[in-house]
Amino acid sequence: MKISVIGCGYVGCVTGVCFADLGHEVTLVDVDPAKLRAISAGRSPIYEPGLEDLIRKNRDRISATTDLRAAIRSTDITFVAVGTPSQEDGAIDLRYVLGACEEIGQVLKDKDTFHTVIIKSTVFPGTTKEMACPVLEKASGKTAGRDFGIGSNPEFLREGSAVRDCLSPDRIVIGADDPRTAGILSDLYAPVGSVVLVTPVTTAEMIKYTSNAVLAAKISLANEIGNLCKRLGVDSREVFTAVGMDGRVSPAFFRTGIGFGGSCFPKDVRALVAGARACGEDLKILRAVLEVNEEQPKKLLSLLRRHIPDLQGKIIGVLGLAFKPDTDDIRESRAVPVVADLLAAGAQVVAYDPAAMENFRRVFPQVGYVSGPDEVLGADAVLILTEWREFEGLDYRGRIVIDGRRLEKARAEAMIYEGVCW
Ligand code: NAD
Ligand code: UDX
Repeated sequence: MKISVIGCGYVGCVTGVCFADLGHEVTLVDVDPAKLRAISAGRSPIYEPGLEDLIRKNRDRISATTDLRAAIRSTDITFVAVGTPSQEDGAIDLRYVLGACEEIGQVLKDKDTFHTVIIKSTVFPGTTKEMACPVLEKASGKTAGRDFGIGSNPEFLREGSAVRDCLSPDRIVIGADDPRTAGILSDLYAPVGSVVLVTPVTTAEMIKYTSNAVLAAKISLANEIGNLCKRLGVDSREVFTAVGMDGRVSPAFFRTGIGFGGSCFPKDVRALVAGARACGEDLKILRAVLEVNEEQPKKLLSLLRRHIPDLQGKIIGVLGLAFKPDTDDIRESRAVPVVADLLAAGAQVVAYDPAAMENFRRVFPQVGYVSGPDEVLGADAVLILTEWREFEGLDYRGRIVIDGRRLEKARAEAMIYEGVCW
């Protein structure tokens, strides 16, 4: 099949390259020429384990261009994978999705063959049917379901394990309201070999938001209980290991610490809360999930102040800036509020991250970035914000360590050790 993917970021690039690996011809489209240049040169535009190898392996089947029109004309199916950031009030910002749909619609006006448009970006339930589809119909002068196909295919990959998640997902959700689109997508995904669920379009969108809401809620629930455990001298990891063994629960996403960051959980839970409010529903539990998450990084700083009450002029080392290990992504990383608070308190921040320093430097040029983790250990105190594996090998003896991610070696060795939830 000939596939175009609009938006060549963490999702578009990975899914496009994985489709190429399944044997399809893929055209990746972005407005950012630097990303496309990287792909054309056989390099990955993002830090994602395994992605560069896959780009090189499938070079003959991948092309990268800024020419959206040519990409739509030369392919049969288009995935829209552009960003859906938060607006100021938390509601979803659809400008990139609807902008891409407008452009695609204009090309479909003059295209004779049947084309299928699939929204892969995470959007509020109802968006594809009530907003993207009318934009496509108006721009093309055609009717969805008859002249072109439209559907939803939410993405569940995690950064850091995106290639694996994409090629062997727990399940594939296809939202289609017409049998032709359902059939095209089912055939496309058949070689993956995972369970395929075909649902109405709006249900597929709701499944994506609900998945992220449930996982975010697990983390905030774990953090709330973890905070209490710390006061009571109970080890929260022991608690959640046992709780997770209950067949009705599952052990995943119960790791306590400074909370969830990244490009999905915070913005998607916010968008769900804001969208629900607009429909007259107050999602109280999810509002609390966000509130707990905002408070967790502040706990790290109170623990630091227990040992260094006045941070003015103190050198504070930071290990980890990415929102999780194995990515260079700093979107909504917990390191952002922590570093901002440290700088506001007059501390000198010295930081190291194996992949995310360049992205962090654009936001915080005033931080001292060092070339190895050992240089951070010489600071007056060390904060661990991301659990990169290499931090497990450091020598924490004689150090003050305030840990947001529970590194066992730091816990065992540090002269003074404090963990957020333990
Ligand atoms: P991203 O910001 O990394 O990538 C989006 C890309 O779209 C950018 O490169 C941007 O330049 C490009 N773009 C914007 N408008 C364009 C246009 N008109 N034409 C061509 N390119 C355009 O975003 P992302 O993290 O890949 O997320 C994309 C979507 O997938 C979002 O809705 C997100 O919620 C969802 N999602 C993300 C993840 C994740 O782990 N990052 C996982 C699942 C779902
Ligand atoms: C998430 C979803 O898992 C994925 O299905 C969706 O498609 C996109 O959003 P991602 O943001 O890449 O993926 O990373 P994830 O591994 O889910 O971690 C998100 C955040 O939660 C990280 O900041 C991580 O540190 C934090 N987290 C995760 C915890 O604090 N505790 C946990 O137990 C798990």
